[in-house]
Amino acid sequence: MKVSVIGAGYVGLTTAACLAQIGHDVFCSESDVEKLSKLQNGGMPIFEPHLQDVIKGVRKVGRLRFGSTEEAIAWGDAIFICVGTPPLANGDADLCAIEGVARAIAKRASGYRLIIEKSTVPVQTGGQLRKHLSVHSTNGLRYDVASNPEFLREGTSVEDFLHPDRIVIGADSPRAADLLHEIYEPIVKQRFTCPIHSDCPKRKDPTFLATDTNSAELIKHASNSFLAMKISFINMVANLCEVVGADVTKVAEGMGLDPRIGPAFLNPGIGFGGFCFPKDVQAFVRIAEKSGCDFSLLREVEKINQRRVEHFVEKIRKELWVVRGKKIALWGLAFKPNTDDVRFAPSLTLVKALLDEGAEVNAYDPEAMEKAKSVLPNITYCSSPYEAAEGADAIVIVTEWDEFRQVDWDRLRLAVERPLVVDGRNMLDAAEVTRRGFHYVSVGRPVVTPGQLPSAAKDVHSVEGVQVEAASVLAK
Ligand SMILES: NC(=O)c1ccc[n+]([C@@H]2O[C@H](COP(=O)([O-])OP(=O)(O)OC[C@H]3O[C@@H](n4cnc5c(N)ncnc54)[C@H](O)[C@@H]3O)[C@@H](O)[C@H]2O)c1
Repeated sequence: MKVSVIGAGYVGLTTAACLAQIGHDVFCSESDVEKLSKLQNGGMPIFEPHLQDVIKGVRKVGRLRFGSTEEAIAWGDAIFICVGTPPLANGDADLCAIEGVARAIAKRASGYRLIIEKSTVPVQTGGQLRKHLSVHSTNGLRYDVASNPEFLREGTSVEDFLHPDRIVIGADSPRAADLLHEIYEPIVKQRFTCPIHSDCPKRKDPTFLATDTNSAELIKHASNSFLAMKISFINMVANLCEVVGADVTKVAEGMGLDPRIGPAFLNPGIGFGGFCFPKDVQAFVRIAEKSGCDFSLLREVEKINQRRVEHFVEKIRKELWVVRGKKIALWGLAFKPNTDDVRFAPSLTLVKALLDEGAEVNAYDPEAMEKAKSVLPNITYCSSPYEAAEGADAIVIVTEWDEFRQVDWDRLRLAVERPLVVDGRNMLDAAEVTRRGFHYVSVGRPVVTPGQLPSAAKDVHSVEGVQVEAASVLAK
């Protein structure tokens, strides 16, 4: 099928490349001229594992082209809208870019088009789009509007798109539903050449869930808000563990063994970030409020998340005593590993807090430093975790890149001023780090000192309103 994708960001570029990979003829547009010219010249505006290879392959056989939005509108029988929907100051999703695309389609397209919202949008956006298309249509456009929320995760986006658990479509006409089914059939039936796995194992077919547009739009916001809630929940459990002397890793493991709960998203840390969770929770709360539903449960989820960085800085403060003048080796800037995306990353708030207290920050991230430079100009960017650690008073881990699991701790021991690791992602093996002579502080787990058994909180502590007199606890 002739398919257009509008917006070549993390979602649009993956969508365009993967739809071409499964056999469609795709035209992808991008309004940012620098990004567009990079793509047209074979470059990549983002880092995403496997994506560049897929794009190279499908361009070679002529199934993917890049150009203007006007060309994209003229090309596709189906048009996927993949532009950004960032948060406004009041938490609402900013639908300016969506509105702009709808207006352009209404003015330029003629004949029948299936217009698909892939961007994350508030419920009832489909209805607004239909109204807008009718009002501005000048060329006898006939159309359906459908919702097809995207569940890919940055860092594994190609894998997630081609091997999803579910494909959700919201369509209010049989024609729209049939077209979407046709587009996704190769994925549903697993009939395509997998560009990632040379010997791609046969998996369970993904569920193709067809519903109405409003429900599909809600599925996306409700899913992300639920996952965010899980993260904030385990973060509060971690706080409690720190006070009473328990180990949150074990608590999470025990909880996750219950299939009604499941182990995913029970990793405590310095909070969720990125372009989806923070804005989607905010937007969902606003939708609920405007609909007269009190969803203050999610307000709490947000509040807990906003306090994570301060809670983490407190750990650093507790260890360093005076933060002013101290050198911090900051490992990781991206909001999660395997991406270069720093939008709404906890690292941004953390760095600001450390700089405000007078620390010197030497940062290293395998992929995100270019993107970070424009938003964090006042720190030093280093070429390796070792360079960042040179003379450091603390190594602070913000993103759980695999590379940090493989570092040479003996070499680092010689490089640092003080052997202290504050791990915001609980990614390291405490026994291993302390064996190499480092004092190890993590989240919701006992602090571990070289040569000592890990001991948990022993005194009266107060963490976010929790006041507990904890018994002395010794963990193995
Ligand atoms: N990033 C994710 O992991 C993810 C996952 C699922 C859903 N989403 C949702 O998908 C949407 C896009 O997210 P993203 O991360 O890809 O954003 P992004 O900012 O990386 O990409 C959006 C792109 O659209 C371009 N654009 C804007 N207006 C345009 C126009 N008129 N014509 C052509 N291009 C235009 C922008 O220049 C930008 O490159 C958002 O609604 C987001 O919530 C994102």
